[in-house]
Amino acid sequence: MMREAVRHSPAAKVMVWDPFVRAFHWALVVGFTVAYLVEEPHIVHVWAGYFVAGLIVARVVWGFVGSKHARFSDFIYRPSTVIGYLRDLVRMRGKRYLGHTPAGGYMVILLLVMLAATGIAGLIVYGGEEQAGPLAGVVSEVTAEQFEEVHEVLANITLALVLIHIAAVLFASHVHKENLPRAMVTGKKRR
Ligand code: HEM
Repeated sequence: MMREAVRHSPAAKVMVWDPFVRAFHWALVVGFTVAYLVEEPHIVHVWAGYFVAGLIVARVVWGFVGSKHARFSDFIYRPSTVIGYLRDLVRMRGKRYLGHTPAGGYMVILLLVMLAATGIAGLIVYGGEEQAGPLAGVVSEVTAEQFEEVHEVLANITLALVLIHIAAVLFASHVHKENLPRAMVTGKKRR
């Protein structure tokens, strides 16, 4: 009887974000913030970059083998679904999803791709300018110099996406009257 009441109560919570996704998310926030803000000592910047790269690789694997809402198959929607979702969202009628929304899913992919691209450009710069890292001896100094600008531009585009991501999370939290950042801490959302 008691169990029934909990199951049907609108306040009942379900586990949506598994511990890996939550640890990944907040570790990524720390790693990205350190990499973006700390240029010197250089070794801190480099290791923050390696840390973020490791997180991205682990998250991609988890996207295939992780829990239901962590899987790419759970949050890659057709473009028409994304457009419909965004259209409803601006009218404050965006449908509520337990996992990532159709637009949120593509933002996740975009963030992962941009973080990876920023890291690869960073490795090229590091390999060519300091003859260090996995690309040491492979990249010329001229190429490294050109990639310095690419690395910086990619990092700034990623930062802009992060700011859009945070604004979108706060907006969706407001529309659906639920604390999405807290759900990324506890893992739980109302059913
Ligand atoms: C304090 C700032 C941040 C807050 C409050 C926040 C909040 C959130 C929330 C609530 C979600 C789940 C969205 C949903 O319900 O669908 C999420 C997902 C995500 N966020 Fe953030 N975020 C922040 C900063 C960042 C930063 C700095 C990055 C990247 C550098 C980032 C990358 C991601 C990624 C990749 C996901 C997908 C998680 C997964 O499925 O593994 N976030 N974020």
